[in-house]
Amino acid sequence: MTSIDPIRWGILATGGIAAKFATDLALLDDNVLAAVGSRRPEAAQEFAGRFGGSRAHGTYEELAADPDVDVIYVATPHGRHVEDVMLCLEAGKHVLCEKALTMNATDSAALVAEARERGLFLAEAMWMRTNPNVRRVHEIATSGAIGEIRQVRAELSHVSRADSVRLWDPALGASALLDVGIYPLTFAHLVLGEPVDIAASGTLTDQGIDDNAGAVLTYASGAVASIAWSQVSAGDSSAVVAGTTGRIEVPARFHEATSLRHGDGDDLTTISEPVIGRGYAHEIQEVAACLRAGATESALLPLDETVSIQRQMDEILSLLGVAAR
Ligand SMILES: NC(=O)c1ccc[n+]([C@@H]2O[C@H](COP(=O)([O-])OP(=O)(O)OC[C@H]3O[C@@H](n4cnc5c(N)ncnc54)[C@H](OP(=O)(O)O)[C@@H]3O)[C@@H](O)[C@H]2O)c1
Repeated sequence: MTSIDPIRWGILATGGIAAKFATDLALLDDNVLAAVGSRRPEAAQEFAGRFGGSRAHGTYEELAADPDVDVIYVATPHGRHVEDVMLCLEAGKHVLCEKALTMNATDSAALVAEARERGLFLAEAMWMRTNPNVRRVHEIATSGAIGEIRQVRAELSHVSRADSVRLWDPALGASALLDVGIYPLTFAHLVLGEPVDIAASGTLTDQGIDDNAGAVLTYASGAVASIAWSQVSAGDSSAVVAGTTGRIEVPARFHEATSLRHGDGDDLTTISEPVIGRGYAHEIQEVAACLRAGATESALLPLDETVSIQRQMDEILSLLGVAAR
């Protein structure tokens, strides 16, 4: 697939993030919502009507089999990503799957192996990585402009409503780490790579899901990252990267940054790269660019890092006392 224009997207599921993604997709001329699939035919019809007359499929299987879809965006709760991604890959479709890619590293590695074997594109929809301001953070941090990186601090939290079933039901993959903690963890990985040691502590609900926690990660360079995440507290959700000659500050919410400041203590320069829509447009553009180039992996959304971060999440969940799922 090197010359398809526009890229024809299918969206699998009709929930909250599916609607936000479709809204950003509509902003891009060279990408089109071709079809939507839902477990509920009436929800597929409603979604298709709301977002521009795409085909409505009353099952995920029908969407996966739609011959006029190039790539499917999987937007179900993470507890069922394995089966939904497999359905799409088996039907020969490229896939962009919401975070967390799966519930554990073994499953993520299996999906990655399956996509590679089939020569199909796969990426985790870790949109923060494609945000132009976060890309600048990465660029500045790895350029040496603030010296050697010694510390990263990042936190993402919110107070989740009791009726947000996905966030509380273990069967759907509920976990504050998999839902929001994955962002500060990925941010630390972007700047510092793989840690050599992880310590973590936090609280679990009566049903055994982590709802409020933090971790300290140590790297071979001696750098340390302090990350925190919560679905029961209203934190500031900012991030800082500190080097031996300066720092980068990313104001709230750092994972959807609209600006950053960098420099030494008294002399910080502000950068504000334009963000298209709510920011999902950038991951859509990245996937489209890969598909047009015939690439099955994205350098901005690298699969090996996705698996490494899942492995780190396995370790953190184990340290928190969460049973393996
Ligand atoms: N990138 C981001 O900013 C961001 C933000 C929020 C969430 N997410 C990720 O996106 C995924 C979905 O989150 P969401 O907030 O969109 O969830 P949601 O609003 O609950 O929607 C999930 C959708 O999945 C489908 N689904 C299939 N089986 C289901 C089940 N057993 N229970 C409930 N829904 C089921 C439903 O669509 P149908 O009824 O149409 O089949 C439902 O509307 C999660 O992996 C989450 O981590 C990412």
